[in-house]
Amino acid sequence: MNPSSRSAIVTGASRGIGRAIALRLAADGFQVVINYAGNAAKAQEVVAAIQASGGQAVAVQADVSQPDDVQRLFASTQQAFGGVDVVVHSAGVMTMAPIATDSLDAFDRMLHVNLRGAFLVLAEAARHVRDAGRVIALSSSVIAKSFPQYGPYIASKAGVEGLARVLANELRGRRISVNAVAPGPVGTELFLEGKSAEQIAQLGRAAPLERLGEPEDIAAVVAFLAGPDGGWVNGQVVRANGGFA
Ligand SMILES: NC(=O)c1ccc[n+]([C@@H]2O[C@H](COP(=O)([O-])OP(=O)(O)OC[C@H]3O[C@@H](n4cnc5c(N)ncnc54)[C@H](OP(=O)(O)O)[C@@H]3O)[C@@H](O)[C@H]2O)c1
Repeated sequence: MNPSSRSAIVTGASRGIGRAIALRLAADGFQVVINYAGNAAKAQEVVAAIQASGGQAVAVQADVSQPDDVQRLFASTQQAFGGVDVVVHSAGVMTMAPIATDSLDAFDRMLHVNLRGAFLVLAEAARHVRDAGRVIALSSSVIAKSFPQYGPYIASKAGVEGLARVLANELRGRRISVNAVAPGPVGTELFLEGKSAEQIAQLGRAAPLERLGEPEDIAAVVAFLAGPDGGWVNGQVVRANGGFA
């Protein structure tokens, strides 16, 4: 496989972990589609950074919770790069909400974007990814912690892990691996928003490696799974978290 003729879709690539994954896969030789929801300027910055380094990238707006948008995302990739070899589903949202009836809106919103979004992206990946391709979905290591207020988010990400494992079995015979990557706390907007400096410092010390993850830490794990050395890992959840278990 020649990476320079391989293409990757990264959902939620305008910011945070998705952005770092897109930059890393481009550095590894992939042609990259930068998906975003509303932040066109940020997505274009990622495209410009990749092009400035000699890589190829395009930005495609698509709400991952909308079937027509997800179909258009894959059709645009086909048009831009002639096919799809790797799909990394990083787009996601998180708000804190206790398990209580007045949290139903937050629950619905997180399930809609995180779980319905994953279902739609994995479904299109199953249709489009070429033989020997890779599908990687972002889960979260907070599943093992069961912290108060994380109920809806954990429910959505537990669902993502289930979908990834099932799809690995459904794609038997096509040499396509499907895995999830579950980061611990990473200092992005999703993690930092609404937390006090004390909470952030405490979560930063929680892992035995005693720091928050960097988006690049997660991008390195995704690049391994997407690259030649990761091909024998299939149907797994890789908990990339510095020991935040
Ligand atoms: N940060 C952490 O500590 C952490 C830990 C464990 C797991 N994760 C998971 O890692 C993934 C990335 O998180 P992050 O920290 O990088 O988040 P982030 O910095 O908040 O970035 C979120 C990205 O998702 C996109 N997005 C949001 N809703 C979307 C939708 N409906 N359709 C398409 N794109 C959408 C955003 O696009 P716009 O810019 O256009 O809004 C943005 O590119 C998520 O799945 C998250 O659950 C994060």
